[in-house]
Formats: sequence, C-alpha cells, structure tokens
Amino acid sequence: MSGPALRQLAAHRSIHESAHGQVKEMTRSLRFLYENERSKEGLEAEKVILEHWRDHIIAHADSEEEGLYLEIRKERPELSETITQLMRDHELLRKIVGKIEENLEADESREDRLSMYESLLVVNWHHSRDEEKYLLGEG
Ligand SMILES: [Fe+2]
Ligand SMILES: [Fe+2]
Repeated sequence: MSGPALRQLAAHRSIHESAHGQVKEMTRSLRFLYENERSKEGLEAEKVILEHWRDHIIAHADSEEEGLYLEIRKERPELSETITQLMRDHELLRKIVGKIEENLEADESREDRLSMYESLLVVNWHHSRDEEKYLLGEG
C-alpha cells in the first residue's frame, strides 16, 4: 500500500496496526513452539515471520522512503531531522531482520533469535507511534 493512503492518519495507522498485530501474534506462537520443543515447526514458523517482516513491514518502510518521506521533506523542511530519525528506525528494522536471517542460516541460538524478534516488535511499535504523531498529525 502506498500513495495517498499513507498521508491519511487513519488509513496509515490501520496498515501499521494490522501488520504489527500479525507479527506480534506469530512471535507469540513461535515462542510457544520452541518452549514446547517443537523445533521443526518453529523453523517453519520463522520463515513465515521473516517473510512477513520483509513483505509487509520493510516493504512499507521502503515505500515511505521512496514517496511519503520525500514529499513531506519537501513540503515541510522543518521535519527533515525527524525524517532522518524515522529512517534510522527503518534501518534498525532492516539490520535486525538481516541479523536474524544470518543467525538462522548459521543455525545459531534460537533464544537469541527470539529476543531479536521481540526487539523488532518494540522498535516497530515506537516507530509507528512516532510516525503517526510527527508526520500525520496524531497527538
Ligand atoms: Fe515507517
Ligand atoms: Fe508507516
């Protein structure tokens, strides 16, 4: 989703809420699988979670940087620093997703991966609230 919908608080927020709710639920299920030693299912679940982060949340971030952020920076130069900070949040999401993939590839600690999935949720939650507040007039 991109274009005009991203400029409207309610529509944009509902994109955030829906994608976030799904990864949050998936992360909760993943923890349950690993706590119950269901490793094979856990690995399958991880593929789905990572795909979801990439296809929904990172793709949303990419489209903001290619459109909405450029437009807002042009219209409201005073928000330039805020946009730089929001882009740093996107970068953190990309880095953490990349780290999880490396960890998975090398078959390292699943406990470390669980904590990285949870970190992603925290960063994404704060990022979404800040974006709504500073760029879309929430507040
Ligand atoms: Fe964003
Ligand atoms: Fe957004």
